[in-house]
Amino acid sequence: MRVASIVLSLAGSVAAVANAHQVISRSSPSVKAGCQALKKPLSDAVFYPNTDVYEYEAQNFWSDTEILSPGCVFRPQSSAQLAKGLEALVKADAEFAVRGGGHMGIRGSNNINNGVLVVMSNLTTLELNDDQSILSVGPGYRWNQVYTYLAQYDLTVPGGRLGPVGVPGLLLAGGVNFYGNQVGFACNSVINYEVVLADGSIVHANSTNNSDLFWALKGGSSNFGIVTRFDIETIASRQVWAGSYTVSAEYIDAFLAAIATYAANIFDDKTHIVPAIVPGTTTVASVILFYDSDNSTFPDILTPFTDIPAISSTLDFKTVEEFANELGEVVTPGINDVFVAGTVKGTTYAELYEGISIINATFAEQLPKLYAQIPTANISIIELDWQPIGADWIKASEARGGNALGLDSSQVYLCYAEVVEWIGSEYDEIVAEWVEETTYLINNATEKAGLYDPFNYMGDAAGFQSIYPGYGAGNHQKLIKTAQKYDPNGVFQTLMPGGFKVY
Ligand SMILES: Cc1cc2nc3c(=O)[nH]c(=O)nc-3n(C[C@H](O)[C@H](O)[C@H](O)COP(=O)(O)OP(=O)(O)OC[C@H]3O[C@@H](n4cnc5c(N)ncnc54)[C@H](O)[C@@H]3O)c2cc1C
Ligand SMILES: *[C@@H]1O[C@H](CO)[C@@H](O)[C@H](O)[C@H]1NC(C)=O
Ligand SMILES: *[C@@H]1O[C@H](CO)[C@@H](O)[C@H](O)[C@H]1NC(C)=O
Ligand SMILES: *[C@@H]1O[C@H](CO)[C@@H](O)[C@H](O)[C@H]1NC(C)=O
Ligand SMILES: *[C@@H]1O[C@H](CO)[C@@H](O)[C@H](O)[C@H]1NC(C)=O
Ligand SMILES: *[C@@H]1O[C@H](CO)[C@@H](O)[C@H](O)[C@H]1NC(C)=O
Ligand SMILES: *[C@@H]1O[C@H](CO)[C@@H](O)[C@H](O)[C@H]1NC(C)=O
Ligand SMILES: *[C@@H]1O[C@H](CO)[C@@H](O)[C@H](O)[C@H]1NC(C)=O
Repeated sequence: MRVASIVLSLAGSVAAVANAHQVISRSSPSVKAGCQALKKPLSDAVFYPNTDVYEYEAQNFWSDTEILSPGCVFRPQSSAQLAKGLEALVKADAEFAVRGGGHMGIRGSNNINNGVLVVMSNLTTLELNDDQSILSVGPGYRWNQVYTYLAQYDLTVPGGRLGPVGVPGLLLAGGVNFYGNQVGFACNSVINYEVVLADGSIVHANSTNNSDLFWALKGGSSNFGIVTRFDIETIASRQVWAGSYTVSAEYIDAFLAAIATYAANIFDDKTHIVPAIVPGTTTVASVILFYDSDNSTFPDILTPFTDIPAISSTLDFKTVEEFANELGEVVTPGINDVFVAGTVKGTTYAELYEGISIINATFAEQLPKLYAQIPTANISIIELDWQPIGADWIKASEARGGNALGLDSSQVYLCYAEVVEWIGSEYDEIVAEWVEETTYLINNATEKAGLYDPFNYMGDAAGFQSIYPGYGAGNHQKLIKTAQKYDPNGVFQTLMPGGFKVY
């Protein structure tokens, strides 16, 4: 059961993990030894089934598909305690999983059967430096908590657009955020990481110290260490003009054209959009619109959307905190969910429109197959969205030291995400097969049109997808080298099997 789920969730990297086992001479890791190994030195931070803490933490995941049965929960109170625990786990050759905000909806990516579930809940540093230019934040937070804290100073940071999403997983994946056209990926505003390495040492990674690790943590996820603090540049933000703007099905073609118009010429870097098609008994198109201004509305760049008559709109002045909470209500926690990622790229309106339209049409053609297998009452939401990432965004990332994602500023990327949320685990396999088949059909079609790009944004990726090859061979190689340097025994690939592994 456990092996099956890991194989399922890490299909892309299974061969590579097997390879790592050959390179590293290690006896077969144990799933049971971990709780025992932690017990002595850290008994006050280890919790077993039938205790309140275990029952709370073992359920504290976004999607029901993530819930497993760990042997115990390790909830360190400090990075020093985490380091001590990690040392004990490595010594015992024991398997573990790490969970931040628990929003990676992939079974086995952040949880484990029988082994140790390490949770970040009590690593809760949250403070501004003297001039309020840098926020130090622990991995125990969700973005809405961070925004609430910063709102009292009229500040924000680039982070999750939906409030309940966790801080660490998003920053380690890259971080698509409202301010992307101004500051790039959220990870590019991180100027320093505190990291617990596999040997139990606690180091800082920044542009002058451990700079290879600093770069690798910007998109390389959990392959190098466990991050216990992010130091991130703040942004002045009193209020923004933002909301969800929804139009009826008769305007879908105008809506798809508006996405291409925006993406082909992102001339106002204060904007951000998340356009989506939401099929259902009444299909609608809905776009999250964001404008970083506290005194002006309806900017020219957004008129291709706002000129379409709305059936509902929440556009108004609000704080980032309020907006992230509003958007958080859009999804339902505690049911079953999957996200799948893919990308098309182009440079002209015509190319981008064609990419959008192929994705939309292929997805729509496949929907009847899903509806035939799952009762409507058990489908909570289906959504197809597009994230435009263009030159301003990529150059802003580069200006802050770059990242591992490998995007090229001469292109405009439209990263699409398929989202299915359903009720009833008996439908898990049906949805998994449907999204996999649909994704291959989409990508084969966009490839044929010459618009496909192998980049899959980790935050939106499903377990069957691979991530690092899409960063380009050079970046992938650099990530492998950095993992080998900071974790020569491959602890984060073997003892911590969950998540996207560089090899
Ligand atoms: C509803 C929803 C909305 C989203 N919105 C956005 C968005 O606006 N922008 C965006 O970019 N992404 C978004 N995402 C994707 C999101 O970035 C990822 O799901 C991300 O993994 C969430 O972080 P987390 O801490 O909650 O994840 P977790 O599931 O806790 O962790 C993700 C991975 O990171 C590892 N990890 C966790 N903490 C650490 C640590 N401290 N050190 C090392 N490794 C660690 C885990 O082991 C796991 O493999 C969204 C996802 C959902 C479900
Ligand atoms: C640890 O985290 C849990 C869950 O968020 C919280 O209830 C508890 O108060 C925290 N304990 C400490 C000591 O911070
Ligand atoms: C970079 O890391 C070094 C070594 O730990 C530390 O002394 C320095 O303060 C860090 N720089 C930043 C900007 O945090
Ligand atoms: C950080 O880097 C500087 C400059 O390279 C170096 O002098 C210093 O010793 C480093 N500090 C640590 C703690 O590694
Ligand atoms: C709106 O705010 C911006 C930024 O603070 C400022 O430069 C601009 O003059 C303001 N415009 C109006 C019409 O008040
Ligand atoms: C997009 O998909 C919708 C169904 O969700 C369909 O009605 C519409 O015709 C499609 N448009 C294009 C251009 O593919
Ligand atoms: C389908 O959803 C309903 C609630 O909408 C739920 O009560 C039922 O158990 C679900 N069916 C299955 C097979 O899980
Ligand atoms: C094309 O489809 C096949 C399966 O039908 C799949 O193996 C392949 O990965 C797809 N191509 C892309 C680029 O996804």
